[in-house]
Amino acid sequence: MKLGSTLAAATLLATAVLVPAGNAAAAAPARYEAEASPAVCTGTIDSNHAGYSGTGFCNADNAVGAGAQFTVNASAAGTATLGVRFANGTTTSRPADVLVNGVRVAGVSFDGTGAWTTWVTKTVTVPVASGGSTIRLSPTAAGGLPNIDYLDVEVTGGTGGDGRPSDQNIQYYGRWNRSDASWYAMGWAGGYLDARFTGSSIGVRQRNAIDLYYSIDGASPQWRRNMSGNVTLATGLSGTSHTIRIGYRERAGSYTGDPVFGGLILAGGAQTAPISRPANFVEFIGDSITVGQPNADRPFTAYPWLAAEGLGAGHSQVAQGGACLVSQDCYGMMDWFRRSSGSATYDDWNFSTYQATAVVINLGTNDIGHGVSTTQFQQGYLVMLERVRQAYPNAEIFAMGVFRNRYVTETRNAVAARNAAGDSRVRFVDTAGWIDPATDTSDNVHPTDAGHAKIAQRLRPILDQYI
Ligand code: GCU
Ligand code: CA
Repeated sequence: MKLGSTLAAATLLATAVLVPAGNAAAAAPARYEAEASPAVCTGTIDSNHAGYSGTGFCNADNAVGAGAQFTVNASAAGTATLGVRFANGTTTSRPADVLVNGVRVAGVSFDGTGAWTTWVTKTVTVPVASGGSTIRLSPTAAGGLPNIDYLDVEVTGGTGGDGRPSDQNIQYYGRWNRSDASWYAMGWAGGYLDARFTGSSIGVRQRNAIDLYYSIDGASPQWRRNMSGNVTLATGLSGTSHTIRIGYRERAGSYTGDPVFGGLILAGGAQTAPISRPANFVEFIGDSITVGQPNADRPFTAYPWLAAEGLGAGHSQVAQGGACLVSQDCYGMMDWFRRSSGSATYDDWNFSTYQATAVVINLGTNDIGHGVSTTQFQQGYLVMLERVRQAYPNAEIFAMGVFRNRYVTETRNAVAARNAAGDSRVRFVDTAGWIDPATDTSDNVHPTDAGHAKIAQRLRPILDQYI
């Protein structure tokens, strides 16, 4: 791969926009386990018949309509080939409707497989729209469903895109403000986009100067500092298609870069193609530690990024240096997490844009400097947990004890209060001993890159138990 900025990128953009849309390559299949949120099983998650994948399977109740439901994502509209892995230890077929977003689109019958431990895959094709859809297997006879292990989904027939910000083939992660169709603006920190493209070169259109980073075909991210206008990222690529990730330095403190995405610059005749989106998305809410400040390669050397990448999940860092939990002369994230960015003037974020499967909160390091009492903190944390639950009804929520050991008892108490109120999917994460401030931080507060790696190492398996 050769990097350079000599390409006539403006010409390429003009060419790319004129290319007629055609059929693009298929996205790789995605697997959705029946036992994992946001899947819903009208019955029990069991593990008593060997051979299943993941941690169990859905044993739906033996009744009409007792379903197994999956939430799947398609990067573009098309035909989804569904592979349903199931076992039916009886000799009677079990018929079911296939509902997409509540609408019946197909029927399927699950024949006996000989034993409850004999798992086979049944294929059925259904149309899907771009974005998230629910797919529900709804039995039409009293015997109910067979045991359901997982759903594989592969969408084909997606249309080649032109790389503009609104291109349905581009997958966005984090808080993006899309109100200006020409420039999608990244809010907070750690937002990024993924795309698949054909052709031998790739670039990105920027507005005012910004530090951006990119990664091609999953390589380590590379910075391009202070970029504006048409930026060539790579030329001379071989092979039929490639993936690119682009993200921006957060606009915060004294840094006033312009973190907007103005579209991909494709080679003449090239197009974007659908790219799959992982089933899990982890949203991290916090302060400078969650951003990864002041380390040069944040956000991608910070623990949120590392832990989520390690899980193959999408992620975002809804965080700002100096942020608190409570809004008392401070960015209080219990309020501000409902905004698209730290410069939004009201609670403008629409949580139906995406749903997190997990939310990790790391707040409390800064409240002490703003005179927040322990009582105030605990009450505020409880409200924060209620609000996160309201925003993400199906998410696993994790409240980390902060590394400087501040308000840890109150954090624990707030979690216990939510558990007592019936929300069992809120968990306290004890971080005592994860890092040594003397060697793993640069100033007794902010973890070094190595410190972040240690934290990610500890956090990842905890998240992995639940998502
Ligand atoms: C048995 C079997 C279950 C299955 C059920 C059924 O109880 O152990 O896994 O779900 O039959 O008939 O649906
Ligand atoms: Ca059953």
